[in-house]
Amino acid sequence: MQRDEKPLLKLENICVSFPVKKDFPFQKKRFVRAVSDVSLEIFRGETFGLVGESGCGKSTLANTTLGIQKVDSGKIFFDGQELTAMNKKELKQARRSMQMIFQDPFSSLNPRFSVFDIISEPLRIGGGYTREQMREKVGALLHEVGLSEADMDRFPSDFSGGQKQRIGIARALILKPKYLVCDEPVSALDVSVHAQILNLLMDLQQKYDITYLFISHNLAVVKRICTRLLVMYFGKTMEYGDVDKIFRNPVHPYTRALMSAIFDTDIDSKHERIRLQGEVPSPIHPPAGCRFCGRCPEEEGFCKEGEPPLVKVEEDHFVACFKYNKPLAE
Ligand SMILES: Nc1ncnc2c1ncn2[C@@H]1O[C@H](COP(=O)(O)OP(=O)(O)OP(=O)(O)O)[C@@H](O)[C@H]1O
Ligand code: SF4
Ligand SMILES: [Mg+2]
Repeated sequence: MQRDEKPLLKLENICVSFPVKKDFPFQKKRFVRAVSDVSLEIFRGETFGLVGESGCGKSTLANTTLGIQKVDSGKIFFDGQELTAMNKKELKQARRSMQMIFQDPFSSLNPRFSVFDIISEPLRIGGGYTREQMREKVGALLHEVGLSEADMDRFPSDFSGGQKQRIGIARALILKPKYLVCDEPVSALDVSVHAQILNLLMDLQQKYDITYLFISHNLAVVKRICTRLLVMYFGKTMEYGDVDKIFRNPVHPYTRALMSAIFDTDIDSKHERIRLQGEVPSPIHPPAGCRFCGRCPEEEGFCKEGEPPLVKVEEDHFVACFKYNKPLAE
């Protein structure tokens, strides 16, 4: 891929925490640290993968890039402008270029609205279009996503899961966004339609030059469609960079464990699945030292002595692991 060297989206040291409900009245305030010091760059036209186990902070991080989730600290730049410094009006304007496809098309489409109402809603909110103009745009978009103009006056209950997701995609595209967050876009759908929806997303990306942030549990899909990747564990970056480089040379024990689960389904594979031991740590009391301590198959004594910094392995490939960096072992 030809890369425009200016990223469309740049995150600098993003931290997000949520207050935890008190168990009793005089309990000290506690926080879940959902995202801790994450920095990344997403370049124009690429599909950037974000992977990690459930609860590691993927959706929270994605929501910060859309301006939906406030950050505790850090900066976000979108298309050269600082999103984290915008007032409400500026943010509203910037968000017209950013959209999201939801994981669950069954609950994300209002059953009382027609397909036309659902897809044209962003146009109606922005204003400036007649009903005829909106019907024309919605009809054309329905074609693009593999449905027909005749579907415009039907209701979500008339459609299958895959078709509902196509409606969700059309709604996300109506304002011609530059950036689209796809948060597990196929995981709620029947396996038989996964490939069709992913192929549709890839075709639309080419046609409209959209940049994707693609969230997934499934590294096999990430390998197929993403150009760059961030592996997240417990709110932090474990490994980051070019997908081909990370798959060719996975350095972090957590990345290797996630990858071994893909090869597990291949009966001829010589790879053995790495089964992670130990409890997932409490998000309120993260472990001292490396966050992967207690579950890491390669843990050593020095791993508890601090948080491993993200260091360069090769061009566009970074890892946060003391086994690679060895600052304390030497
Ligand atoms: N609004 C909220 N209030 C309190 N805690 C929250 C809130 N949203 C997320 N969290 C907590 O922040 C952490 C990260 O959650 P997040 O939804 O970002 O994870 P995720 O990686 O998207 O998980 P999944 O794969 O299950 O969607 C979790 O511990 C979650 O319980
Ligand atoms: S720093 Fe230690 S515990 Fe953490 S991932 Fe590396 S080897 Fe495992
Ligand atoms: Mg999520």
